[in-house]
Amino acid sequence: MQIHNISNENSILNQFIAEIRDSTIQKDSMRFRRNIERIGEILGYEMSKTLTYKNVTVETPLGTTPTFLPKSDIVLCSILRAGVPLHNGLLNYFDDAENAFISAYRHHKENPETFEIIVEYLACPNLEGKTLILADPMLATGQSMLATFEALKPFGTPKEVHLISVIGAQQGVDFVNTNFPENTHLWIAAIDKNLNDKGYIIPGLGDAGDLAFGEKLQQ
Ligand code: URA
Repeated sequence: MQIHNISNENSILNQFIAEIRDSTIQKDSMRFRRNIERIGEILGYEMSKTLTYKNVTVETPLGTTPTFLPKSDIVLCSILRAGVPLHNGLLNYFDDAENAFISAYRHHKENPETFEIIVEYLACPNLEGKTLILADPMLATGQSMLATFEALKPFGTPKEVHLISVIGAQQGVDFVNTNFPENTHLWIAAIDKNLNDKGYIIPGLGDAGDLAFGEKLQQ
């Protein structure tokens, strides 16, 4: 797997990451969603540099010019619900992408430190030979990302897979690195060192779904 940690270089991305982490700024959920969306746009832009391009000619009102446009068929798959703002950011740039949605959530058993990933809802187009982008803002253990990938297998074999995350824990990055095919790319905006015993990234930002959409009752 190729791991692209975009915050290794200084850029305006760092401001958006700092804002989604900041516990005061986080109180503005519209700004939180918009920042996740902006990060999705930046990660999507970086990822776009690795797509396959075709030579086309564009006609302007005054003449013609050759250019290169992406020719990959993209399917963008996000995990509900925290993935929605990241999905929107990516879709802002990949106008023609097809879309897939999956609900995958952690079900805690009697011991709050152990959980299984439950996949319930899945809507997905044909994936055969396409470029699959899997978007999950928080790459904590990596188990939701893998459960999603496994659940998508009946829909066809993609040509390439790109994982897009905002913040990851080193443990989750190592997990996807071990469990995804060799030709997978991970595009990530920050990698933190730790996970706590409830599977939250430390320092991370808290619960991305709650910050974007409000707190939920625990089931
Ligand atoms: N999901 C979140 O929203 N936050 C984490 O830290 C880990 C998983």
